[in-house]
Amino acid sequence: MFDTMTITKATGAVCGSLLVYLFAAWGADSLYHVGHSGHGDEEIAQAYTIDTGAEEAAEGDAEAAPDFATVFAAADAAAGEKVFAKCKSCHKLDGADGVGPHLNGIVGKNKGTSAGYAYSDALAALTAEVWSPENLDGFLENPKGYMPGTKMAFAGLPKIEERANLIAYLATVQ
Ligand code: HEC
Repeated sequence: MFDTMTITKATGAVCGSLLVYLFAAWGADSLYHVGHSGHGDEEIAQAYTIDTGAEEAAEGDAEAAPDFATVFAAADAAAGEKVFAKCKSCHKLDGADGVGPHLNGIVGKNKGTSAGYAYSDALAALTAEVWSPENLDGFLENPKGYMPGTKMAFAGLPKIEERANLIAYLATVQ
């Protein structure tokens, strides 16, 4: 019954299991050391790492593409006031329209509804929509890409933090 082959297989199976255990223990150990240096925040990161088992990919994604809601939640309206310098040549905040329509009260306002301002057809067609922080973010990143046909001659703000700060600032100007 216990011929040489069976014993060889059994030995192989035991060695294989030990090897798997060894790698699992080594993997767990390296994960454990990744986030554990006694700092509170890092311990949270560590818990997340162990949950997904793909810590580098997950952290990399989060850094590469921060989501607007997250950045907006931490936005700095005072910093946004400085970003508005890029809009000032065309937009005022006192209710008067210039090259562009006035922007006071723009967050939460229906699009293209500054009375008396001559909007492009593209924007004039959107008066049923409201300017939310999210769609302002999309528009300000790339005005002509987001709204083909707009007459806003502005290249866009590539940095998500600048857009979030600026929108937070605009939300304070009624
Ligand atoms: C070169 C002039 C110019 C600059 C600079 C500019 N805009 Fe505009 N903007 C316009 C024009 C013109 C329109 C009207 C667009 C249309 O009718 O298609 C407009 C429209 C808008 C609207 C829509 C307003 C409404 O009533 O629906 C928003 C919001 C806006 N701009 C925000 C900004 C912000 C924020 C900046 C700065 C980051 C900026 N713009 C920079 C010219 C400009």
